Amino acid sequence: QNSEQAQLISLYDQTAQLYTHVLLNTKMGQQALEYLHQRGLTDDIIEKFQLGFAPGEQLLKEFFDEKKVDYQVLRKSGLFIEDQQGQLRDRFRGRVMYAIKNPQGHVIAFSGRILNKADSQAKYINSPETKIFSKSNVLYNFDIARTAIRQEKRAILFEGFMDVIAAYQSGVTNGIASMGTSFTNEQIYLLQRTTTQLDICYDGDDPGQAAINRAIDAFSQNSQLKLSVIEIPEKLDPDEFVRQHGGKQFNEIVHSARLTPTAFKLDYLKRDFNLNNEADQLTYIERALKVIGQLGSSVEQDLYLNQLAQEFNVQVADLRQQLRQIRSQQS
Ligand code: CTP
Ligand code: MN
Ligand code: MN
Ligand code: MN
Ligand code: MN
Repeated sequence: QNSEQAQLISLYDQTAQLYTHVLLNTKMGQQALEYLHQRGLTDDIIEKFQLGFAPGEQLLKEFFDEKKVDYQVLRKSGLFIEDQQGQLRDRFRGRVMYAIKNPQGHVIAFSGRILNKADSQAKYINSPETKIFSKSNVLYNFDIARTAIRQEKRAILFEGFMDVIAAYQSGVTNGIASMGTSFTNEQIYLLQRTTTQLDICYDGDDPGQAAINRAIDAFSQNSQLKLSVIEIPEKLDPDEFVRQHGGKQFNEIVHSARLTPTAFKLDYLKRDFNLNNEADQLTYIERALKVIGQLGSSVEQDLYLNQLAQEFNVQVADLRQQLRQIRSQQS
């Protein structure tokens, strides 16, 4: 059984090397390489992250057939799709390949991105679950980032692979990403063994902001991690921000523009209200008090109560009174 895992790891390693070779050194990979260059990646970074290209043909099948790899092993690898007759075809075709690695740095899966977004096919397809890969347990780039996370005593959580890579290229090397699922105990365990602080830096668009809100709740409930939020301006993805404003400005944002989860939540909540309107003001204050009421520390509560009082020109004592009322209704 152990040897089955070793066999799979070896297949994925060879596959990653092949895909990277195709991307960097062949005519088949030219268009994809151009695409990655346009997204600002250098060849060094492409090699560091083992990015690759899976061409449209049955390249991988032929590659392993030539090496006489056993059919049953190939079948279980997840690298192929099996048709009605039991024939195996390359699962990934015409896609830019992100190598997904385990904490030891071994390739255990791939995520393939379509080159041309206009296509009706899914933007990403992922490897299926195998003996070595469980999608919900993955922290992309954890193998590389772990040292920096220890040194800086914090990890930065991004939404996408390209965000992690663009950040890395700008010198922000403690970035990781999940694969778009909710967070598992396994991921939280890996992080908590390495650091106490997690900065959430998701996309600046509306889905990204909504996802920050959910991630805050999930991590507050299921982890001891201290959280903060790094907001990317102009509704950009972190990788787009790096391309448009440069790595220096990205570093500044990452190191100085950190919000507490509560500050983010209040900000996010505010977007739903027209605060020139008194009825909206009152509803906002009530909803804000519910957020503040969830805080464990009374010093923290005081901080935001004071802010709220100043913002709307009301008495802190009255806010406290209302907070007590809300509490008694809830319990
Ligand atoms: N994702 C996925 N399947 C999709 C869409 C998204 O698995 N159909 C996951 C991927 O892990 C992706 C992340 O969710 O990296 C964030 O999605 P999105 O912001 O849409 O993609 P980007 O990473 O920004 O991709 P790109 O910049 O290349 O367009
Ligand atoms: Mn080029
Ligand atoms: Mn994105
Ligand atoms: Mn997104
Ligand atoms: Mn993006």
